[in-house]
Amino acid sequence: MLVIRKEFDGNCRKFDALPQREREKGYSFWGWSLCWVTTQKISPVSDSHLCCPGKACPGIPEETKILPNILKKIGCTPMVRVNKIGKSYGLKCELLAKCEYFNAGGSVKDRISLRMVEDAERAGIIKPGDTLIEATSGNTGIGLALVAAVKGYRCIIVLPEKMSMEKVDVLKALGVEIVRTPCTRFDAPESNIRVAWKLKDEIPNSHILDQYRNPSNPLAHYDTTAEEILEQCEGKVHMVVIGSGTGGTVTGVARKLKEKCPECKIIGVDPDGSIVALPSELNRTNTTTIEVEGIGHDFIPTVLDRSVSSCAMRRGLCGSSGSAMSVAMRAARDLKEGQRCVVILPDSVRNYMSKFLNDKWMIKNGFLNDVQEHKPWWWNIKVQKLNLSAPLILLPEVSCQKAIEILQEKGYDQAPVVAESGLILGMVTLSNILSSVLAGNAQFSDPVMKVIYDQFSKISLDDSLGRLSCILENDHFAIVVHEQMQFSGNGSSFMKQMVFGVVTAMDLLTFVSRSEKKQKCSLAAQDSVSPAGSVAPPEPETSN
Ligand SMILES: Cc1ncc(COP(=O)(O)O)c(C=O)c1O
Repeated sequence: MLVIRKEFDGNCRKFDALPQREREKGYSFWGWSLCWVTTQKISPVSDSHLCCPGKACPGIPEETKILPNILKKIGCTPMVRVNKIGKSYGLKCELLAKCEYFNAGGSVKDRISLRMVEDAERAGIIKPGDTLIEATSGNTGIGLALVAAVKGYRCIIVLPEKMSMEKVDVLKALGVEIVRTPCTRFDAPESNIRVAWKLKDEIPNSHILDQYRNPSNPLAHYDTTAEEILEQCEGKVHMVVIGSGTGGTVTGVARKLKEKCPECKIIGVDPDGSIVALPSELNRTNTTTIEVEGIGHDFIPTVLDRSVSSCAMRRGLCGSSGSAMSVAMRAARDLKEGQRCVVILPDSVRNYMSKFLNDKWMIKNGFLNDVQEHKPWWWNIKVQKLNLSAPLILLPEVSCQKAIEILQEKGYDQAPVVAESGLILGMVTLSNILSSVLAGNAQFSDPVMKVIYDQFSKISLDDSLGRLSCILENDHFAIVVHEQMQFSGNGSSFMKQMVFGVVTAMDLLTFVSRSEKKQKCSLAAQDSVSPAGSVAPPEPETSN
């Protein structure tokens, strides 16, 4: 038997242009006859390495054979040596990445989705045709959608507004029904967790597998992820760094490693703004929103066993794989040469192309400066140069009816809702009040808190108009905030945000057009007094 071994000779020739002699020498051709082809050597090999239809293929690893369905492509993810990052941070240990984005649905959560469904099927709790509902940050939704599609369940995914467009589009493509909820506290009636339970009460034969409380979540990682790490590292692993969302991955992996490799340190990664870290002093922060998806919470999930991480939780930056990797750069500093640090990468940047790969999003969210190549003259001028009028602020108890009257009287479309303490609770807009009332979700007598819009961008007086323009490309307005350090009687301090104004595209346009008009007038005036050709070019405005 023969197998074609690809052996590119560096040349591309047309099949019909190849000399007859070359074909007779035992060369064959890869590709179509009239396309450009490369010559391929044919060499004799043993039959055991061949994959023939209808025959067993003992030499080929299980996963390269035909799989019965896509769910068989969950687990057994690659462990890859990271050769440059660790060295550039001065790490002496070997740095390895467990690439969970090679799971069929693209994330670590495929494992628990499959396990939760199959455990529930085995227990006779669910059967094909039933409805699966889950509150998720997206990845569990994609995993469940895949399992539901293969096994024949209806699937409803309830996810917060902040989750990336990519995840939402994949969920739609997988045929799930999507319910979006505002990014509120977990116990607010409109949170994704509460909305999921409300749906379950309304839909017959529906089930919430509940990744936050289901023991199958950590068990999936105890039985598979951790076993794979041990096998791939041949039992030699000194540190594993893992992001914590539900805490299933960190709990399952940590429990198995504590048993089989007790010296191994487990580092849980929790972002600023979350309350999951231990010791709890680490949770003190002024950050009120968590930008990274998938990790961090404002409650402690039941499946998270915080006693199993041998180190304090560390802080992450952005993107949960990036968070874990950046934390590993600090946590693994003490590991010696010959020791090993494994970082779990839960998903890939393909989930966040509209965010971390998008310069405009990065500028808008304050992660990047100055990427615009040809900046207009006003790009670096500070927001404080805008002529903003004093803001109109509403207290949360003001009724929707009163809010409409106030906004109409003052000629505003929107106003920030701010608590007595100064905490910015959200924005109320005329259109939001009206659409909520018309949809029957609120009454005119309800407090504005009921129709509050908490997805808004904040900007400071020191930010540039360039950053503001990036925000206004997608948002109708931004709240201009000013931060002050406030001290209490016992000496403790916190950052207090004060609303300085609300800025819209009209404010920016008015500023730009007025400044340009002023400049033209002064040039015309100079023109009339200077001899021809001696006019200086217009001076751009300074940035402060
Ligand atoms: C991107 C991403 N990273 C990390 C995690 C954390 O995984 P776990 O819920 O097992 O803690 C999740 C969970 O949803 C996730 O989506």
